[in-house]
Amino acid sequence: MDAAGQSLQVPSYCEYPPESVDLDSPMTEEYRATLLRLMANQAYGERHASNTYAPWINRAPGIEERRIIGEIVTEELSHWRTVVELMSDLGVPWDEAPSYQSFHHFYPLCRCFVPVMRWTDIVMSTFLIDRAAYYMLEDYARSSYAPWARAVQASLEEEERHADLGMEFLATQMEKLGTQPLQRALNKWWRFALNMYGPSKSRHHDTYLRLGLKFRSNEDRRRAFTIDGIRRIEEVGLTVPKLIHNSYPYF
Ligand SMILES: [Fe+2]
Ligand SMILES: [Fe+2]
Repeated sequence: MDAAGQSLQVPSYCEYPPESVDLDSPMTEEYRATLLRLMANQAYGERHASNTYAPWINRAPGIEERRIIGEIVTEELSHWRTVVELMSDLGVPWDEAPSYQSFHHFYPLCRCFVPVMRWTDIVMSTFLIDRAAYYMLEDYARSSYAPWARAVQASLEEEERHADLGMEFLATQMEKLGTQPLQRALNKWWRFALNMYGPSKSRHHDTYLRLGLKFRSNEDRRRAFTIDGIRRIEEVGLTVPKLIHNSYPYF
């Protein structure tokens, strides 16, 4: 069961159970292309995370904050390296990985945000976006492609720690800066985090499930994150932002 109490059972029409395909297994062109697309998407997310946090190694307001950010940057970079190395085992040089990723309007939008982020945005990012990333990666940890599943299982332990660090980080920063600036950042990033999962069901949804490369729809993953996110927002003493549009796209 995941955080939303949803079953993580393998669907009956899944042709490839978790960790059933290896590098030397016969692979259909459809399987290889779909796997490479999902791995390229993950590589993008990991690289984007490390690029977002990296400038704050020098800009974060205190020694401890800089140390924590530095640690997260190193780990995100290592997640990126792991996934591009897996792609290179499949014949894709690391610097060609971006040409395999899906196009989504969200990607350029993410890049626009980076230069204008403030410290409170970074704090909210560790609290919220790393948690959202955890639920996006959770399916990959049960992927039919064994080398990827094992790599993501290891990354997930670090992602969980990032999100837990984010929770502590937020509580400390609320003491230092007061609640208001962090509530404002939450109001901005809550919508962003919910939109990260995309439409309820992606157009490749059935293929992903049949090939054992995902187990839940975008909506199921978003639901798991939302339940967990609301609980943590309340626990830390902030208010869950009210939404004007309560389904994708959220605003
Ligand atoms: Fe990561
Ligand atoms: Fe992370």
